[in-house]
Amino acid sequence: MGGLATALGVAGVSPFELVAQQRGQRRGAAPADPNAPKKDPVVEYDKMAKLANNENPYGPPESVLKAMNDAWKYANRYGYPDGNIRQVIAEHHGVKPENILLSAGSGEILKVIDTTYLPAHKLFIGSDPTYDSMYNYVTQSKGQAIKIPLRKDYTADIDGMIHAAKMHSRDVGVVYLCNPNNPTGNIIPKDQVKKLLDSVPEDMTVFIDEAYHHFVDNPNYESSIKYVLEGRRVVVARTFSKIAALAGMRLGFAIASPEMVAEMQPQMIGSISSVVKWGGVAALKDSANEAKVKAITKQLRERTTAELAAYGYETIPSDANFFMVNMKTDVAPLGAKFAEKYVLVGRKFPPMDNWLRVSVGSDEEMKRFMAAFKEIMPSGKSSTSAAAAGA
Ligand SMILES: Cc1ncc(COP(=O)(O)O)c(C=O)c1O
Repeated sequence: MGGLATALGVAGVSPFELVAQQRGQRRGAAPADPNAPKKDPVVEYDKMAKLANNENPYGPPESVLKAMNDAWKYANRYGYPDGNIRQVIAEHHGVKPENILLSAGSGEILKVIDTTYLPAHKLFIGSDPTYDSMYNYVTQSKGQAIKIPLRKDYTADIDGMIHAAKMHSRDVGVVYLCNPNNPTGNIIPKDQVKKLLDSVPEDMTVFIDEAYHHFVDNPNYESSIKYVLEGRRVVVARTFSKIAALAGMRLGFAIASPEMVAEMQPQMIGSISSVVKWGGVAALKDSANEAKVKAITKQLRERTTAELAAYGYETIPSDANFFMVNMKTDVAPLGAKFAEKYVLVGRKFPPMDNWLRVSVGSDEEMKRFMAAFKEIMPSGKSSTSAAAAGA
C-alpha cells in the first residue's frame, strides 16, 4: 500500500483509507462497520487508473517478456551472462562501454550524483519545481540547494541558473537540468542547454536527467549525450522505467566520461537483477514498440489536453508522457476525490499548488480521467468555477 499512499503524497495512508475517511466526514457517519468485508488491496490497486507516477500503462512488449522469462534460469547466480547489456547500451547511444554506468533505475544515478559530487555544504542548482528526489537527496546529505524558479511561462530560467552558478562558482557541486522537466513536461531547448554549458566554469559538473527523452517530438530539443563525447563535465541519466515499461524491474544508466564513471562507480550498490538486464537488451532492440508507445502517448496527451481546454482548463504544453493542468484551486484535496473514482493522479508540486500533474495512461484510463474530472470539477468556462471547485 505504501506505493499508493506515496502516489497520493500522504505517507502511510492508502487512497482507500482516505476515501473511507472522507466519506465518513462528509456524511457525519458512524465509523465503518468493523465486520464489513475487507477490500483486497491488490484487487483495488489493479482497478485503479494509475496516472500518478508517469509510468507506461501498456507494460513490456512480448519481445521483452520473452527475454526476461528466458533469464529466470540465472536467478540463483551472482555471475551470469547478461546479454552484454553495457555493450548494447553503448552501441545504441554511439558511445563506448566505458562511458556507461549501469544502475537500478536512474534514481540510483541521482543518489550517486549526490554522494559523489555533493559533499556536505556543497551547492546544488536546479529549477523550481523540478524532479524533487534530487532535492531530497541533497538535503539529506547536508548539501544546499539553490532553487531557481521557473519563468512565467513555466520554462527553465537558464539565465538565472547561469547567474547563480557564476556567483557561487567555487561552492557549486552540481547543476541539474531535467529535460524534459518533471513535473511540467516541457523541454529545455537545445540552444538553452548549450548556453548553460558554454557559460558555467568548465570544471563544474552538469547533470542532465533525460528520463523522458523518448517521448519528445520537438525540433528544439536534442539529447545532451553529444556533450559527453565533446569531453565536457556532463553526466546524462536515462531510464528503462518510462518508454520501456520496466519501472518495477529497476534499470537505468548514466553516460559520462570514463573518468566520471570511475568517480561514481564506487558509490553504486550493484543491485541490478539478471532478469532486467536481458529485458533491457530486448527493449533497446524493439524500436517498433518504442515508436508505437511514443505515438499513442502523444495522441492521447493531445486528445486529453484538448478536452480539458474545451472544458475551460489550461495545460502546460508537454513533450512527455504527462502534463500539468491548472485546477484553479489547491490540488491537495483533489487526489482523494479522484481516487474515489478509481483514478490516481499526481501529488502536489509546490510552488505550483494549483497545478495537477496527470500521467498519460491508456485510452480507457484517459476516458475515465476525463469523466472523473467533469464530475469533480465544474466547467472552467463558468465564472464561479474557482469557488465551486473549492467547495
Ligand atoms: C525526471 C526523473 N528522473 C528520474 C526518475 C527515476 O526513475 P527510475 O529510478 O525509475 O529510473 C524519475 C521517476 O519518475 C523521474 O521522473
